[in-house]
Amino acid sequence: MSQQTRTPIIAGNWKMNGSAGMAQTLTEAVAQGITSLDAEVVLIPPYPYLSLVGGAMSPSESHFKLGAQDLSVHDQGAHTGEVSGAMLVDLGCHYVLVGHSERRADHHESNEVVAAKFMAAQRAGLIPIVCLGETLAEREAGQTDEVVLGQLDAVIRAAGIESFERAVIAYEPVWAIGTGQTATPDQAQSVHASIRARIRDNSDTIGGQVRVIYGGSVKPDNAQEILSCEDIDGGLIGGASLEASSFLGICQAAR
Ligand code: 13P
Repeated sequence: MSQQTRTPIIAGNWKMNGSAGMAQTLTEAVAQGITSLDAEVVLIPPYPYLSLVGGAMSPSESHFKLGAQDLSVHDQGAHTGEVSGAMLVDLGCHYVLVGHSERRADHHESNEVVAAKFMAAQRAGLIPIVCLGETLAEREAGQTDEVVLGQLDAVIRAAGIESFERAVIAYEPVWAIGTGQTATPDQAQSVHASIRARIRDNSDTIGGQVRVIYGGSVKPDNAQEILSCEDIDGGLIGGASLEASSFLGICQAAR
């Protein structure tokens, strides 16, 4: 299946940034700027602003979607401070990140926990965006594919290959996140191709369909060359998603 049949996604992960006022203004500005794009555009604000951001999205733009940054492995019950997939669906979420490297590092989320969150998301009817990526030390030791495919295999083992019909994969090299140091198009394409090949080894059809997006210091001025790579189907944007003009510049590059 050719790349043209995979609708690109540009997702803005706001991380723990913003305020209610900023969330409102930024969402309205993005909503105005994305009309008639061929890409799906996803905003991923912190939990407290999900409802506000969902409300400020234009309902007529069906390719403008809401996502959350994390969810609980549990469906409900005595888990103080946790947020379930069903609650995110209630708030209008369509997507949820699982296994972001900041969660893996700050909260010691193992590959098994990430796989459990991936399955919890799908049980609730959400589309998980599962994040994979190696550290600088791992890359320098020549372990990039081993680490990234190991993270992917844990999810395939737990959830089964068919689950990737309703999932997105994000490759985010840890050393490129928030550093201004982007992977070169060749470096990114090579890992994306390995990820797609691993899915294809399990199911040729799903390997051709699954969207694999890149994250790590994507900006308007480098978006075009990264997003035009054969196996790169969009971007997961951090810092540059906090300003409407830079986020919209990246969305334009994904056309
Ligand atoms: P930056 O775009 O700020 O590097 O962040 C990438 C990221 O972690 C998105 O999830």
